[in-house]
Amino acid sequence: MSKWMTADMPDLSERVAVVTGASAGLGLETARALAAHGATVVLACRDTTKGEAAARTLTGTKARVVELDLASLTSVREAAEIIGSTCPSLDLLVNNAGVMQVPFQRTEDGFELTFGINHLGHFALTGLLLPQLLRTSGSRVVTVTSNAHRRGDLDLDPAGEYEPGAAYDRSKLANLLFAYELHRRLQASGSSTASLAAHPGNARTALWATSSRLERVLIGSYLRPVNFWLAQSAQRGALPQLRAATDSSAKSGECYGPDGWFQYAGSPVRVRTSPDSYDRDAASRLWRLSEQLTEVRYSFAGAR
Ligand SMILES: NC(=O)c1ccc[n+]([C@@H]2O[C@H](COP(=O)([O-])OP(=O)(O)OC[C@H]3O[C@@H](n4cnc5c(N)ncnc54)[C@H](OP(=O)(O)O)[C@@H]3O)[C@@H](O)[C@H]2O)c1
Repeated sequence: MSKWMTADMPDLSERVAVVTGASAGLGLETARALAAHGATVVLACRDTTKGEAAARTLTGTKARVVELDLASLTSVREAAEIIGSTCPSLDLLVNNAGVMQVPFQRTEDGFELTFGINHLGHFALTGLLLPQLLRTSGSRVVTVTSNAHRRGDLDLDPAGEYEPGAAYDRSKLANLLFAYELHRRLQASGSSTASLAAHPGNARTALWATSSRLERVLIGSYLRPVNFWLAQSAQRGALPQLRAATDSSAKSGECYGPDGWFQYAGSPVRVRTSPDSYDRDAASRLWRLSEQLTEVRYSFAGAR
């Protein structure tokens, strides 16, 4: 069977897409491919100077930058307001931005930073953009997770010592619990909006800057001739989220990732995720906690 590539993406001329963290790495590659296929792309970036520079590298003239700091609910609300007022319909939201293995810090609203940015910020943004998504027939939300979700602890609100790796793993499990729960809620409402997940395997991006020296060597580009089974370029790493976002055969509730050994690298295919990620009780608990912490309540009224 032939491998899915960006050449398989449909024409997106009439589509509007928002990509979070589009200033670098997988977000930039995603924005680039969407724009190359004609989409109007909103690059939602915390650093707008970086975002504008990224936008200039996209083909077409329909890219726009909106300031979004996922570590601030005020910023999330302001970004959603701007996107909502400038984009009455929204075909695609790619919840891509993320941080990994950072020292303990809190978001502006007091949440542990990794959980705050990777999950809560995206939970709030999606909920606030839901009216635009619901009114756009066949719209999609793609949430970017990681193989690291397999190590994630279902205790989403742990007491005790902060461990940067565990915080990342937990946030990536939360991404999946959220994506699948959103899928179930959209389905129950009768909406045509789809919620999918995707992970890149291991892609060479700045995300690894905070990881161990050994990991950086293993993933690094100078080992490319021998580590092709372990890591891939950002361009290839973006393929699973692009497939989840645009392939007509990709369905709500699915996750896409690389087809290689341990899903580390390869071509984008539908993948199974960990048993915990399909835990409906945990997903409901996370949903309630997220609504309570962000004060964003999802309304599926107006679903079509
Ligand atoms: N690379 C991998 O191997 C890998 C593996 C598994 C999963 N992932 C996932 O892929 C996604 C993208 O990561 P990447 O590899 O492309 O990393 P990256 O190159 O470091 O890019 C991360 C992006 O997120 C943005 N970001 C960080 N904090 C933010 C905040 N508070 N508000 C808004 N944007 C923020 C960054 O903005 P700045 O440019 O301003 O820093 C950047 O645009 C993440 O969700 C990550 O967990 C990556």
